[in-house]
Amino acid sequence: MKFGTKVIHTGHEIDKHTGALSIPIYQASTYHQPDIDNPPEFSYSRSGNPTRKALEETIAFLENGDKGFAFSSGMAATSSVLSVFSSGDHILVCEDVYGGTYRVVNNLFKRYGIEVSFANAVNLLEIENSIQSNTKAIFLETPSNPLMKITDLKGAIKIATNKGLLVIVDNTFMSPYLQRPLELGADIVIHSATKFIGGHSDVVGGLVVVKGIELAKRIYSIQNGFGAILGPQDSWLLLRGLKTLKVRMDYQQKSALDLARWLSKQPEVSEVFYPGLDAHPGKEIHFSQAQGPGAVLSFKTINDETARLFMKHIRLAAVAVSLGGVETIVSYPVKMSHASVPQQERERLGISDNLIRVSVGLEEIEDLIEDFEQSLNIEALSQ
Ligand SMILES: Cc1ncc(COP(=O)(O)O)c(C=O)c1O
Repeated sequence: MKFGTKVIHTGHEIDKHTGALSIPIYQASTYHQPDIDNPPEFSYSRSGNPTRKALEETIAFLENGDKGFAFSSGMAATSSVLSVFSSGDHILVCEDVYGGTYRVVNNLFKRYGIEVSFANAVNLLEIENSIQSNTKAIFLETPSNPLMKITDLKGAIKIATNKGLLVIVDNTFMSPYLQRPLELGADIVIHSATKFIGGHSDVVGGLVVVKGIELAKRIYSIQNGFGAILGPQDSWLLLRGLKTLKVRMDYQQKSALDLARWLSKQPEVSEVFYPGLDAHPGKEIHFSQAQGPGAVLSFKTINDETARLFMKHIRLAAVAVSLGGVETIVSYPVKMSHASVPQQERERLGISDNLIRVSVGLEEIEDLIEDFEQSLNIEALSQ
């Protein structure tokens, strides 16, 4: 079955109790237990809720994994996954990981005795050389945020598998439509479902899908024990968002490609980062592991002032943190998603004051280009 059909026919397209074409929102914290010797499937909603279960089974189906888990945010998902490790374990993280992940591994997990180091995951040799005797996992994000660097997932997974390490992939930018790391041999996939999966900038949530029942049991015990679960209303919103994931992404990534090509030709723009462009150094690897370039791109303006003026004068696109919604969002990574990364480190990574990230929405491309044109040319227009 093709993905566009799968998102509609997930096994949860019809409520088995009523025939409703939408899974009900089971707004319940607890459940009647008629026989105390035989507890029912649902006993308390931290441990399990029917709406959340439908979502968890749906994402496991779409990612082609064994078990799915829904959390209260992408960061709750990431932190719950990282909680499988113990003091003394080392985790290797790709160096331009999402700023919130950078913060939590450095400020929280290091305090718990988990060692973390960072590597440029574009370079497989650097991954290999950064593995220590106590390394237990590699944490990857491809395309990376915000510079859209590409990691060779199959290559990295091969290195990790040879050493018996877990591979965790934050698949937020791609969604299960465009990239399914578990099919390539990864062990755990994480999503900030706040982004493309929700798709409408109206819900914060996180999803995890794992391969292997043993790993699933460990994640379940953290989900139930730690308790950072997604509520039934938000689970329902994500189920609804998933139904249109493919059509949204098809449209958004087509516009993203048009916008990236247009940006590449503008004199105020010095660099465009988008794996759909022929000039992107990771394009070939990206298309060997993903079905499309996605709808997020970033670009650098010729100087910092042009970037600041752009952010001030953009009209149609929203200026906001986040991505993956129906509306185009422009963000300024140094002050937003990557503000928690120290300046020196940001500069080393190329996350500079002239960098702008764009999540392309569902507006008509002609209107978007017109908006970008007036915001980029504001200096010239005001003279
Ligand atoms: C790639 C990536 N991973 C994880 C997160 C964290 O997700 P949330 O904001 O839902 O906690 C984000 C949020 O921007 C993200 O972009």
